[in-house]
Amino acid sequence: MNKNNSEILSAVQKFGTPSYIYDGEKLVQNYKNLVNALPECVDVFYALKVNPNVSLVKLLRSNGACTEVCSITEMEIALKAGSTPEDIVYLGPCKKDYELKKAIELNIFAIVIESEIELKRVSAFAKEMDIIANVAIRINPDFSAEGSPWKMGGRPTHFGIEEQHAIENFQVYLDTPNINVRGIHVYNGTNILEAKSVYENTKYILELYETIVRKYNCKFTMVDVGGGMGVPYFQNQEELDTQEFRNLMVPLFTNFNKKYPETRIIMESGRLIIGTSGCMAVQVNNMKTNHGKIFAVTDGGTNCHSAAAGSGRVVKRNFPMENISALPTAQEHKYQVSGPLCSPDDIIGRNIQLKEINVLDILLVKLSGAYGPTSSPGLFHSHGYPAEILLYQGESYLIRSKDSTDDIINKQIMVDFKKNELILN
Ligand SMILES: Cc1ncc(COP(=O)(O)O)c(C=O)c1O
Repeated sequence: MNKNNSEILSAVQKFGTPSYIYDGEKLVQNYKNLVNALPECVDVFYALKVNPNVSLVKLLRSNGACTEVCSITEMEIALKAGSTPEDIVYLGPCKKDYELKKAIELNIFAIVIESEIELKRVSAFAKEMDIIANVAIRINPDFSAEGSPWKMGGRPTHFGIEEQHAIENFQVYLDTPNINVRGIHVYNGTNILEAKSVYENTKYILELYETIVRKYNCKFTMVDVGGGMGVPYFQNQEELDTQEFRNLMVPLFTNFNKKYPETRIIMESGRLIIGTSGCMAVQVNNMKTNHGKIFAVTDGGTNCHSAAAGSGRVVKRNFPMENISALPTAQEHKYQVSGPLCSPDDIIGRNIQLKEINVLDILLVKLSGAYGPTSSPGLFHSHGYPAEILLYQGESYLIRSKDSTDDIINKQIMVDFKKNELILN
């Protein structure tokens, strides 16, 4: 995020807190940096699960990004943002019938198949519609990505078909009626900071592609190697070395492309593109000292940003934070920064050193563009989704309004009980 604090403060004053603020220029730059670190034969697919805001997707799409979606709603967002079906891949372990039918009907580039049962379902629907459905077989490899804190492959998961089983049975997939198997998909893990690890992972997948092509003498038109490139959130972590990444990945992909020029090479990325482009702004509503610690209580915590609160992590470490209301000369103190929930775990800054905090100050949680509100329990205490703001080309845009009380209550249905049912005895 390269926007200055006064720009951020004035956007927050205009649109309120809790809110997510994105730097449009940084978002585009991150995307371009990734594209430039890869040879031309690779297409970058932005993963909407990481942040599905339609304006952000539109900005990426207008700069050339393709899209990877995991639900029909994400697919509609991608289309609304300007994506065309041939630049969409659709995956996810639980696709509903209507979602599969819609994807087949739209003729997207590939439905990524997560199981043999799913392949049969797609085949049956495509037959009903008299269409050939384009698919890729997702493989859960025997290999797992080094350096990923969240491994998706090389262990029992609900993703994809096991490598050995897939290799043995691939002819069945190729022979399935109304199915065009474009190739394979592997996504092995997220938040990898070592270029070498992404390289090893990709090399493994390209070799797996070759094993299958050779064994079955088939022609593929796609290989999706996932990605998982990360962002350094915590002290002592270093960002992915782009030069090393480039030096390793360019020859790997270029050689592959020479051998298989008809194969579209896909890399999926979310966190690397958007993680550093966003921050969360929260307002301090209450201050107190409790058992010797100073607490700053803010209007957005786990409910808006469960990653910053360390949900799912045994060791809780702080995302970088700043008090942007403090004067530069203010003294620093050690704080516990909490959210608004009645949960002792709702802490987004533990023993964190920040410039003196006062009630109404605005605190920023940085590096927060990825996996923010969409992967947080937003309805806890019925607080709802925070606002989202885009700063781009000197303008500030509200790109999602904060959920209002009506937004939340109107989704609930109050039953008009018959009189007798309310009398218990
Ligand atoms: C299949 C798949 N693709 C893409 C992504 C996005 O990954 P990242 O944010 O690490 O780029 C994920 C994240 O879990 C994923 O599961």
